[in-house]
Amino acid sequence: MPERDRPRRRTAPAPSPTIRLRRLRRTEALREWVAETEVELRRLIYPLFVRPGRGGSEAVSSMPGVFRYPVGEVGPLARRLADEGIRSVLLFGAARRKDDEGSDAWARDGVVPEAVRAVKRAAPSLVVVTDVCLCAYTVHGHCGLVRNGAVVNDASCERLGRVALAHARAGADVVAPSAMMDGQVSAIRAALDRAGHEETAVLAYSSKHASAFYGPFREAEDSTPAFGDRRGYQMDWRNAREALREMERDAAEGADLLMVKPALTSLDLLTRARKRFLLPLAAYQVSGEYAMIKAAAAAGALEERAAVEETLGALRRAGADLIVTYFARDVARWSREGR
Ligand code: PBG
Repeated sequence: MPERDRPRRRTAPAPSPTIRLRRLRRTEALREWVAETEVELRRLIYPLFVRPGRGGSEAVSSMPGVFRYPVGEVGPLARRLADEGIRSVLLFGAARRKDDEGSDAWARDGVVPEAVRAVKRAAPSLVVVTDVCLCAYTVHGHCGLVRNGAVVNDASCERLGRVALAHARAGADVVAPSAMMDGQVSAIRAALDRAGHEETAVLAYSSKHASAFYGPFREAEDSTPAFGDRRGYQMDWRNAREALREMERDAAEGADLLMVKPALTSLDLLTRARKRFLLPLAAYQVSGEYAMIKAAAAAGALEERAAVEETLGALRRAGADLIVTYFARDVARWSREGR
């Protein structure tokens, strides 16, 4: 039979779907109405790099928009942040003088204690969190003490206890150990309680992977290890069960909040931790995640605000209650500006 004489085969009409998910995506008002996730400003923690000495703030070249502030500028800055709607800061210090043990990290008049006092005086409503580590204070740049070429654990915990205590004495609300030493949370809890600071909370950097995404931070903090790397104490990013063990242990040691880091590579951990633990969960959107978005936006490859909102939103969706982000001030500005 010639082609044109063949009876036309009818395709059955596609069944009309009863369930049409697009109905609630039709208008902006409907989308806003059913949106499941919100990134509230009150959940964001803004990291601040504080340096010794005087003079102005110094730009961190790998992190456009991020600066290292001299202690003298921290008070006025804290007031501005509070006015902008920021609720919480995470303080990182730098050594006036580095040594083998990193002793400037627990000096009473060190950069972080001075900065804590300045923030508390200028903006008492801010929640003040301090990073507790030795890497910016040791000549070798490791997060603990080095003996015979190796980072030793228990003696490092004892030093971290001193650091946390110096921060608590200055008035920190929360201390955040990031050195990944075994037992650092209980060592810190014990040091604080012994000195009568049982009200100071501990935010444990529980799941901290050895990561390519800390690069820009190490420029800001001048904390690149002089030899080797951090894989002997930070976690292998391939491991998730081990991350949950870290969290379980920190919770048992008395941590008040748990944190995962880097953020975007730990979404699975947030979701699993949310089911498993009752403690508040934080995620740290680290320097490399910040630099990546900044660089792509500067190259015109993506729209910065949309990319930031989407990544922070994903962290909330995965289960983060709190988010440390260098974009916190931008989020505050955007919320003032509106959509
Ligand atoms: C200190 C510390 C680091 C970060 C937070 N605390 C660096 C590291 O472990 O090398 C990284 C934060 C960031 O990249 O934004 N141990």
